[in-house]
Amino acid sequence: MKINKCVFPVAGLGTRFLPVTKELAKEMLPLVNRPIISYGVEEAVASGCREVIMITGRAKRSIENYFDRSFELEYLLKARGKDELHDMIVKISDMAEILFIRQREPLGLGHAVLCSEPVCKNEYFAVALPDDVFLNEGDPVLNQLIRVHEKMGGSVIALEEINDENISRYGVAKSQFEIEGGIHKIIDMVEKPKLEEAPSNLAIMGRYVLSPAIFELLRNQNPGSGGEIQLTDALKTLCSQEPVWGVVFNGRRFDCGTQKGWLSANVQLALEDPELRDVVLNIVNKELNQPQS
Ligand code: G1P
Repeated sequence: MKINKCVFPVAGLGTRFLPVTKELAKEMLPLVNRPIISYGVEEAVASGCREVIMITGRAKRSIENYFDRSFELEYLLKARGKDELHDMIVKISDMAEILFIRQREPLGLGHAVLCSEPVCKNEYFAVALPDDVFLNEGDPVLNQLIRVHEKMGGSVIALEEINDENISRYGVAKSQFEIEGGIHKIIDMVEKPKLEEAPSNLAIMGRYVLSPAIFELLRNQNPGSGGEIQLTDALKTLCSQEPVWGVVFNGRRFDCGTQKGWLSANVQLALEDPELRDVVLNIVNKELNQPQS
């Protein structure tokens, strides 16, 4: 079945980026020249999703404004003959049909996804966590999941093999078997396990295709890790009732939910930009050539 809707949970407080996130939505932090959230939305659109549903909170107005028309700016840019910039900002607001739903209480990722029920209750839908930015030339990561859903049916989660020291930061999935290159039948999962309790080293990364049956499970889900309603806990039940597939995706992932990951992504993207590459290299070379203290 075609996946038309992609849900973006964006209500999180962004405490890892304080003080900047005291006022600015963390999803609006720049990755070179575009906000983090833009990369996820572009990926969803490139994967065929026509509707984007943002699950937002009161401090996230800047996201709404970013995807809205800005008549004043459009008018001024046009009047000043800056056609390229004009077209660029119009394109942002035309990217997709974007809907905003307020998550009134910070009860966790599972609760955020549950907030999309009024719009998504009758169909399979995608979820994208904007902190996880995927950069790849070929097939977008979300589309890799959608293709598996179209072929196999059921729900699909993105997986990455990770090192032991990072296990406790993620949801971790247990594979029953691998049907073909990188596609696993999932039979269990645990949110942020201790290393000794992890069922594998296959971590869940922030892209999902979900069955609407998830809503009933989320509604009845008790708080889990961190006292929050966890999507992973509801998915654990779902995989005992319906097929859930895991896809070890092709592509590069940057964890823009941490300062280190966000900075790495910025440096990497700057190195890949013909105009910015030398800026980064010059700083690094200067630093390397300084006498060691
Ligand atoms: C969320 C999910 C977790 C997943 C991670 C991927 O955790 O709960 O299962 O592995 O995203 O980034 P969070 O990073 O929001 O704590």
